[in-house]
This record gives sequence, structure tokens and C-alpha cells, in this order.
Amino acid sequence: MNRKVKIAVFASGSGSNFAAIEQACSADELNAEIVLMVTNKPEAFVVERADKVSIPVAAIRPKDFETKDAYEEAILHALRESGAEWLVLAGYMRLVGPVLLMAYPSRIVNIHPSLLPSFPGKDAIAQAVAHGVKVTGVTVHLVDEGMDTGQILAQCAVDVVSGDEDKTAEAIHAVEHGLYKDTLNELFSR
Ligand code: GAR
Repeated sequence: MNRKVKIAVFASGSGSNFAAIEQACSADELNAEIVLMVTNKPEAFVVERADKVSIPVAAIRPKDFETKDAYEEAILHALRESGAEWLVLAGYMRLVGPVLLMAYPSRIVNIHPSLLPSFPGKDAIAQAVAHGVKVTGVTVHLVDEGMDTGQILAQCAVDVVSGDEDKTAEAIHAVEHGLYKDTLNELFSR
């Protein structure tokens, strides 16, 4: 098997995608190794998940820095120490800025719970349900300076459960974990 790709996973919340990626790496279903979990929210549940599987955590709060560049320089320092080659955003609820984009050109990937370019930004599932669309889905894309505007790598449609955000979210999460694994494998084998 090829050398494992070193990845840093970025997350801000529950971390179900982080857990799915970690399990895929451990089971050799994803040719990668998580060398760092980066979060902007030290209190997020994803930190517990990372601790449990002994993955190093960089919990760095934006409000501890005067500028976004300084915040991202601190992240970059931790990334360089970890040897991360790719950044995998998994529920990281911040717009990536120039410091990280320049350090990892075309090497930052994101998963978003809608069929982009529909419903970018926050609360994509709630937006889709409120809009009354019948089909939404999941997109994996490269990250650029825009809000969920980078090159689309993969998409999968998911039916909206009429008026029910929770059930729609459940269906979306079930698709996300497999789609992210498959897309990352494809990307890392290029
Ligand atoms: C996921 O649904 C992911 O697609 C979304 O946050 C959720 C995180 O769930 N990301 C975005 O909305 C990015 N704009 P998780 O913490 O359980 O992985």
C-alpha cells in the first residue's frame, strides 16, 4: 500500500465526520493518518472524541488573537509541527483566510450539507427545509477564498423529509460519512 497521507481535520462541533474519518483511517479504508485535529472551539464535543483516540488537538480560539491572520499563523505553526499535508474541514464553521490558503494551495477540502451552489454558509439544512426544496444533498469541494465556492469534487442527492429538519439532517449525515471517505481516497490517489 502507498504511504499514508498526513491530514489535519478541522472541526467546530460534534465531530461525527471526524469520527468517521478516524475510523476509516484505523480500518485502512482511507489511505491517510490524522496527525492533528484543529478546532476553534475548545469546548466542542469533537475534542473529547479526539482525546479518546489519542489524536493531538490544537484548540485555538480566534478571539485570543488581534487579527484573523495572527489566528491562522498560530494554526499554521501547529500544522507545520504535525507534518500535515492536507487540511480536511469537517464541520469547521469559519471562513478559511489567506494564510492557510497560501500555505496549502488546492490542498484544503470541505464537506457541506447541501447541493452547492444552493444553500451555502451556515444552517444549510435548515435553509433547504425552510425553502421547501424536495431534494438537497451533500457536496465535497476544494476550498477557495469564497464561502463554499471552490471546485466541486463530489455530490450526492438526499431527499428532504418534508418539513422535518432533524430527519433530513439524519439522512444527510448518513450520506456524508461515506461520501467524504470515498472522495478523499480518490483525491489522495491522484
Ligand atoms: C456537517 O453536516 C457538515 O457538512 C457541516 O457541519 C456538520 C458537522 O457535523 N458543515 C458545514 O455546514 C460547513 N459549512 P459533525 O460535527 O457531526 O461532523
